[in-house]
Amino acid sequence: MNMLETILSRKSVRHYKQEKIDWGIIADILKFANDLPMLIDGIAVEYKLVSNIETKQGFYGPLSLNAPYYICISSEEKENYLVNAGYLMQQISLYINSKGLGTCFIDTATPGKSLKSTMKYKYVTAIAFGKTSKPLFRNMIEAKRLPESDVVVYKEGVSPDIQKMLTAARYAPSHMNSQPWRFVAYKNRIHIFCKKNAFLKSVLKNSKMIDMGIMLANLLLTAEELWIDVSFTKSVALKQKQFPNHEYFITLNIG
Ligand SMILES: Cc1cc2nc3c(=O)[nH]c(=O)nc-3n(C[C@H](O)[C@H](O)[C@H](O)COP(=O)(O)O)c2cc1C
Repeated sequence: MNMLETILSRKSVRHYKQEKIDWGIIADILKFANDLPMLIDGIAVEYKLVSNIETKQGFYGPLSLNAPYYICISSEEKENYLVNAGYLMQQISLYINSKGLGTCFIDTATPGKSLKSTMKYKYVTAIAFGKTSKPLFRNMIEAKRLPESDVVVYKEGVSPDIQKMLTAARYAPSHMNSQPWRFVAYKNRIHIFCKKNAFLKSVLKNSKMIDMGIMLANLLLTAEELWIDVSFTKSVALKQKQFPNHEYFITLNIG
C-alpha cells in the first residue's frame, strides 16, 4: 500500500488487545518520531511513550478506549505549536499503522498530573495504539467525510495530482470528525481556510489547530509521494478580509 492509499483507507481503532508489542517495534516508532522534521522550525517537542501493559503509568482513558500504549507529544508553546504537533502526530500515526498496529488520536483521556509533570514541555495530544483484531483499513467510501462540494471550491481546473492532494487532505482524521478545513483551489495554489468555532471554547480552538496540522501532514505527504514541489505563503489580502464563517489559514503554492 502506498502513502496515499494508506491515508485514504486508515481508520481509528478503539478496541485493543492488552498485549505487549516487541521492544524493537516501539524503538522504531520512537526513532521515527524523533527523526521527523518540524513543520515550523524552532519549536522543540518531546515524545513520551506510555505503556499501560504491566503497570498503569497514569494515562487514564474512558473504558471504551482502553489502549495498552499511548504516545504523547509535549511542545514549546510558540506560535502555531498546535499545528506543528498535529502535523508530527499524523505522520507517527500512519507509521504505527504501517507496523500493523491500530491507532486513535485521543483527547477524552489525558495523562495524569504526575505523568504530565515528567514532560519537558506543555502536553498537547496523544495517540492510543496497540495490537488489535479489528481492521486497520477500510474502503475509502466507508469513511464519513463531508462531500467534496462542501469543502472545496474550484476556481480553475486542477491537475489530477492536485485533486489527489485535496482528497488526501479531506480524509484526515479530526476531533469529533469536525473537518474544520476548507479549500479554494487554483491550478497553481490552494488557499486553505478554517471554519470558525460556533463556541469560543479554547478546548475546541486547540483541537481545531491540531486538526489543521493533521490535514497538512496528509497534504504534504501526498505532494511528496507525487513529486510535487510545494511551499507556503500567507496572503496579506486574504488575512485582512473578513469571512462570516471561516478564517484564512495559509496558501499552499504548487510547483
Ligand atoms: C485531535 C483528535 C482527538 C480525538 N480524540 C478522540 C477521542 O478522545 N476518542 C475517540 O474515540 N476518538 C477520538 N478522535 C478520533 C476521531 O473521532 C476520528 O478521527 C474521526 O471520527 C474520523 O474517523 P476516522 O479516524 O476513523 O477516519 C480524535 C481525533 C483527533 C484528530
